Amino acid sequence: MARNLLILYILILFSALTASESDQYFSKKISPSSLGLKKEKLTHLHFYFHDTITAKNPTAVQVAEAAMTNTSSSNFGAVFVMDDPLTVSPEVSSKMVGRAQGIYASASQSEIAFLMVLNFAFMEGKFNGSNLSILGRNAIFSGIREMPIVGGSGVFRFSHGYAQAKTHTIDIKTKNAIVEYNVYVFHY
Ligand SMILES: *[C@@H]1O[C@H](CO)[C@@H](O)[C@H](O)[C@H]1NC(C)=O
Ligand SMILES: *[C@@H]1O[C@H](CO)[C@@H](O)[C@H](O)[C@H]1NC(C)=O
Ligand SMILES: *[C@@H]1O[C@H](CO)[C@@H](O)[C@H](O)[C@H]1NC(C)=O
Repeated sequence: MARNLLILYILILFSALTASESDQYFSKKISPSSLGLKKEKLTHLHFYFHDTITAKNPTAVQVAEAAMTNTSSSNFGAVFVMDDPLTVSPEVSSKMVGRAQGIYASASQSEIAFLMVLNFAFMEGKFNGSNLSILGRNAIFSGIREMPIVGGSGVFRFSHGYAQAKTHTIDIKTKNAIVEYNVYVFHY
């Protein structure tokens, strides 16, 4: 009787050990279908970005500068934080599809070229609640600027692609700008 109990005890201990060992792994191969991934899709998004610096309620604010920023022709060292609305047409009052939230910093000493680090937070249709992350160079006075998509969340998990920015209007005095975006993104 005591021997049977001992064997039972050893069996239980052994199965507990093997179970916890199989739970402990650092990496293993899994199939894409285990994450519900089907065929990769390509989506084209088109919207207008409104960067308003000079207004009663600005959507982009300067948060830092260097001692020499004001004397630099390219505003080198200026850092802005934005929470800019994205709309379907150039009018800011048109339907909002998302917001561009992030930072841009003047990172060239020879022309106005920003380091852009931002998330597009979408609020429209099946993209509502999903985000895309952008990291790129934006020389605002050149025609079409291209910035890589470094990833995304929600329906944009595993995304890759690029965003093209083209200035629609810019007011040199107020620095307020409307920028047309064409985004090409692969996702599942
Ligand atoms: C740069 O110019 C702005 C606006 O004229 C001023 O508010 C700011 O203090 C200046 N910054 C430096 C570091 O001189
Ligand atoms: C987006 O999702 C939020 C939260 O789930 C919801 O409140 C909002 O109405 C949705 N907007 C659109 C345009 O579907
Ligand atoms: C996308 O960003 C918003 C904030 O803008 C956040 O509430 C939401 O959880 C993010 N979506 C996902 C899928 O992580």
